[in-house]
Amino acid sequence: MSALEFIRCRKPGWSPPSDTKIRIRRKAHTSSSAESRPNETRFILAIFPVWKRVFLWLSVSSGKESGNERTRNLDTATLSCIDNGIYDRQCDLWWSDTGFSSLLQHVSNPWRVPYFQRVLALEGNLEPKGKLLLDIGCGGGVLAEEFAAMGFRVTGVDPSEKSLAAARVHASERGLSIDYRTGSGDLLPFGNESFDVVSCCDVLEHIHNWDVVIAEVARVIKPGGIFVYDTINRTLISKVLFITLAQDWSFTRIFPPNLHVWEMFIKPEELSGVLDRHGFRTFDIQGTKPPGNPLKMVMAMRKYNRGRITAAEFGKLVGGSIAGPNIDVNYMGYAIQSA
Ligand SMILES: C[S@@+](CC[C@H](N)C(=O)[O-])C[C@H]1O[C@@H](n2cnc3c(N)ncnc32)[C@H](O)[C@@H]1O
Repeated sequence: MSALEFIRCRKPGWSPPSDTKIRIRRKAHTSSSAESRPNETRFILAIFPVWKRVFLWLSVSSGKESGNERTRNLDTATLSCIDNGIYDRQCDLWWSDTGFSSLLQHVSNPWRVPYFQRVLALEGNLEPKGKLLLDIGCGGGVLAEEFAAMGFRVTGVDPSEKSLAAARVHASERGLSIDYRTGSGDLLPFGNESFDVVSCCDVLEHIHNWDVVIAEVARVIKPGGIFVYDTINRTLISKVLFITLAQDWSFTRIFPPNLHVWEMFIKPEELSGVLDRHGFRTFDIQGTKPPGNPLKMVMAMRKYNRGRITAAEFGKLVGGSIAGPNIDVNYMGYAIQSA
């Protein structure tokens, strides 16, 4: 990255001349969730204390930004800020007690694994034993191992060879057989209609052409197959939490610089629009239960930042790792490919 690009990465608001812009047009959003918020908000304002009002204001004001139809301009400088090389450089952190990627095990898994298990076993009417599951962007295997433990025959794919090496070691230590392959989500090295289930978790927001990844999911999944995902919503509150507090502010930082680029976060209506276009019927969407007092969250981040608590202790302290209706920050869901 050049010095100039580095400066741009530190200033996400920078905008290049219009000829360098990549225009990504998303499908019109007809859901009424954004429009229905003001009534809920008025009711909640009447009963909630001040700090909750601040949280609500952040999510409501960011909801207004999208409108019913949205044209998104992502410039090449913004896209180049994302640092996916971190998964090679810090490949030893996946299964450690500290470090950014160990949070997937201790903060994300308690929230998403029981949800996916319920979706796949009950709503998808799927008996995992022997069914073929592809985990796109599997990294060190934090989620792939959970799927294997449920009984799926799991294939994991990721561009980071070093993360895959860590994943292979850990799976064999745990006695799990998982087929790990090198590859990218936008060019999957598999034939058409190969998998019963495809998962892509905490990955789409790292890939500039995530809509091509969805096209690839549609190609490799069997008719009637289930796609499960989680990602991060692009709201003001996610900007404060994931970028300002978790990444930029040295007092609370728990992620390395440029792990996330806020402009690359994905609104649920953008994702469901692309899924629709590729023949999926989208079903449920769940978020995380909002953490308690935000001050508690900031102090937990501070402690993790200083190395005073482990990822497991951090997960317990923030206590937001339960599925809930609030999709303003993280959300997860599933979609079924038309048979
Ligand atoms: C936050 S980690 C998520 C790991 C795992 N899915 C989980 O939830 O535990 C993001 C992963 O996406 C991978 N990744 C980055 N670019 C990718 C691409 N083009 N295709 C597939 N995976 C990609 C990274 O190497 C990294 O392992």
